Amino acid sequence: MFDYPVFDMPLMGHRLIFAFDAIVHVFISHGAAVGGSIILTLAQWLAIKENDSKFDELAYKILFTFFILATAIGALTGIGIWVHVNIINPAAIGALLRVFFWKWFVEWIVFNVEMIFLLWWFLTWRKYPLGTPGKRFHFKLGATYAISSWFTMAIITAILGFMMTPGNWLKSEFPTQPDYLASLMNPSWIPSLGFRTFFSVGWAAAAAMFLSWFFTKNDEELRLKATRFFGKILGVSVPLFLVFGYWYYQQFPQQAKDLFTIGAVTRQLAGNPVLPWVLTGGLAVLALIGGGMLYANPKRAPMAVALALMVGCMGLMAEFERVREFVRKPYIIYGYMYANGVRVIDVPVLNRDGFLKRAAFVPDELKTVTPTNKLAVGKALYQMQCRYCHTVDGVNAIRDRIKGWDEKTIFHRIGSLNSPTTPFMPPFSGTQAEREALAAYLASLNKPSAIAIAH
Ligand code: HEC
Repeated sequence: MFDYPVFDMPLMGHRLIFAFDAIVHVFISHGAAVGGSIILTLAQWLAIKENDSKFDELAYKILFTFFILATAIGALTGIGIWVHVNIINPAAIGALLRVFFWKWFVEWIVFNVEMIFLLWWFLTWRKYPLGTPGKRFHFKLGATYAISSWFTMAIITAILGFMMTPGNWLKSEFPTQPDYLASLMNPSWIPSLGFRTFFSVGWAAAAAMFLSWFFTKNDEELRLKATRFFGKILGVSVPLFLVFGYWYYQQFPQQAKDLFTIGAVTRQLAGNPVLPWVLTGGLAVLALIGGGMLYANPKRAPMAVALALMVGCMGLMAEFERVREFVRKPYIIYGYMYANGVRVIDVPVLNRDGFLKRAAFVPDELKTVTPTNKLAVGKALYQMQCRYCHTVDGVNAIRDRIKGWDEKTIFHRIGSLNSPTTPFMPPFSGTQAEREALAAYLASLNKPSAIAIAH
């Protein structure tokens, strides 16, 4: 069942490293690829319609920037996501691959199409100047790039939606007769796809306004035109993504909605329910002021304004991704698999037979608890069930969480990890003896003599 070796990530922990990688990936994939392809196709369409070669050239310069970002940082962080998810939670990615196998395969094919058309569109831009017959053909390259990059987002969004709201798939027989259509048509797919689509378009438009500020330093007329054009796209996207966002939020299970405050800030700060709104509102105001001032007076808008727009947008996106990940806890796939890779239906079996008996990479001598191997068994259990979210000494350090607790207190707490005060933690699974071993190991962390074992 736990057929994977443990990969420990001290101090920073897995979650934080993954969050960095994934959030940078979202900035690039949503802005430079999906949204970028859509808004720049629109910009090229306008340039063709008005026969405006300066605007065409500006669109090319923005594409140049997006191209570098997408092919360098976007591709790198995309691969990073695959590496991270396989290290963090191989059971979950294994389950998702099985459920979404052909959809993911199609996504991969379309992704290749996307890359080919991006290269083709970008590299031949100057070969087809405005007014030449080939320009319309060239425009179609961009349109194909935009459609294919949106399509890849549609599939990935289905998978992300599935993790939050597996819907009727949960009711089907797995693995004998899974309902693959239900996994795709899960309740949050369409609303989250709408949300991410307009989010991407708006974010790309904001980034294009920012870049136009730099690329049009000596041409005030061009800056005015660019800022107004991209500003209008941003203005149209905001209400649309808010509407879809609300619809999306409505699909969340109540338990997930209840975690919203902690997800938006932290557990320590969640005592003050106003804070998440201050944070979200503050970022939104930053984006609004930046965008508004740039739109109203592009000729004189200072760089700080363009920067505020970027910082506000990026902050909102990062916060959204954090909240989405957090409120899904204690699950990685809602109702089906806990965040630590334990399947919900397996818990009774693990409690009866023992967790480590089912763990392929644990040495045989740790599969039964004895007085001599107790601490080592406890450590193995910690690494297989708690390490997903805790480190020993770094982020969310377990040593600090249990400071001053004796072994008995720890033992009791392990029995109620998924409690109303900490609903985001999965329950412990394993026998009484294993629970005692985990308690002994955790208690040993705060005893001076045990430091050697802890490391
Ligand atoms: C899904 C992520 C996740 C997993 C898995 C997880 N925890 Fe936690 N745990 C947390 C978070 C988040 C906190 C709260 C940290 C804070 O207060 O800032 C926490 C807090 C705790 C606390 C302090 C509780 C309190 O009342 O303050 C203990 C003890 C603890 N965890 C033990 C464990 C043990 C033991 C395991 C493994 C069997 C485990 N956790 C697995 C996320 C997790």
